Amino acid sequence: MPTQDQIREALRAVIDPELRRDIVELGMVRSIDAHANGVVDVTVSLTTPGCPIRSHFQTGVANAVRALDGVSGVNVSFDVLSDQEKGALQQKLGRGGGLPTGALAQVANVICVGSGKGGVGKSSVTANLAAALTAEGKRVGVLDADVWGYSQPRMFGLGAQRPKVSEQRKIVPPEAHDGIKVMSIGFFMEEDAAVVWRGPMLHKALTQFLEDVDWGELDYLLVDLPPGTGDVSMTLAQLLPQARFLIVTTPQPVAQRVARRSAEMAHKVRLEIAGIVENMSGFVTPAGERYAIFGEGGGQLLADELDVPLLGTVPLTMALREQADVGTPLVFADPDDPAAQAIRQTARGVIALTPVELPVMASSTPAAPPEVKPVGMSLPMA
Ligand SMILES: Nc1ncnc2c1ncn2[C@@H]1O[C@H](COP(=O)(O)OP(=O)(O)OP(=O)(O)O)[C@@H](O)[C@H]1O
Ligand SMILES: [Mg+2]
Repeated sequence: MPTQDQIREALRAVIDPELRRDIVELGMVRSIDAHANGVVDVTVSLTTPGCPIRSHFQTGVANAVRALDGVSGVNVSFDVLSDQEKGALQQKLGRGGGLPTGALAQVANVICVGSGKGGVGKSSVTANLAAALTAEGKRVGVLDADVWGYSQPRMFGLGAQRPKVSEQRKIVPPEAHDGIKVMSIGFFMEEDAAVVWRGPMLHKALTQFLEDVDWGELDYLLVDLPPGTGDVSMTLAQLLPQARFLIVTTPQPVAQRVARRSAEMAHKVRLEIAGIVENMSGFVTPAGERYAIFGEGGGQLLADELDVPLLGTVPLTMALREQADVGTPLVFADPDDPAAQAIRQTARGVIALTPVELPVMASSTPAAPPEVKPVGMSLPMA
């Protein structure tokens, strides 16, 4: 077995791409435990819980240590540098070597929910997954990135809400049931007004949603994408290199082919695909008879093809649609409905796949609500 020092030396090959130094020099290797059976546990301390380059470290550390003779396996885990350690690191980096900050600094996981085609239930799955993650005790935000066909305000019953601006000049997202923070272009539009932005305007609006919104501490930020693989998805992929992709598809083999395109897009922009959710998979009559209205098996096929997990199969139920229309996600309204149960299972799968948690801050006594004033339209206008 290699010694601690040898392992530490090998870890010098892992470079923090933002700070451009190796993780040993940066003091980010918290612990190394080499077990007699050849398994090595390494804990890496990140600068922020939402550290965008976590998967880079995960792979880098595993590869560096696995290359040593006698190592049979590597477990990489993460924690976060204390304020004091961060201060010391900041000092070492000197001026100009700033640590990443920004509105998403306290967001542990970003998950984009997308599909190749429209109407497969992305928005319904997003809203209900947010509810299910909340029910599991997670802090959750939802960003409605479907600027042309926004639907999250309605799904959360926030249609009449207008965001406010905090003293720090940040946009405060309206909160739905159980504290889910929601941001949507819909909050800034007259009812049913059409959004015609493209290109730079779109880029600017999405950037503002990520940078100027006071998301605070979140375990999950779910992003409801518009259908297809267009401008919005590309822009977000650029802005959120740490995001993972959840693909929603229906059971039809045709839909699966279309969904594959969004998978190709995710690969192209190097977003990791977290898994597949098959929606509208069958309808069960009150008498218990099951009809495969949209066919069968497309979700599993796609999951196999992409070698990612099928995280849920959500049946068609009337209640899912009805609850979306009245503004309470079904998972809150009727957690035992079969569709709600399927999404709760999906949420548990998502949690298992995204083990990075925000540390419970010492100051976790709820902060006083920020002083806020109503905001008019502060999003980009030409
Ligand atoms: N499992 C389900 N059971 C019943 N109705 C569903 C189910 N999933 C979605 N729906 C309904 O199907 C319609 C489309 O769903 P939704 O808006 O979530 O899809 P989407 O993929 O976000 O669509 P778009 O591409 O337009 O954004 C909605 O009316 C929704 O209530
Ligand atoms: Mg939608």
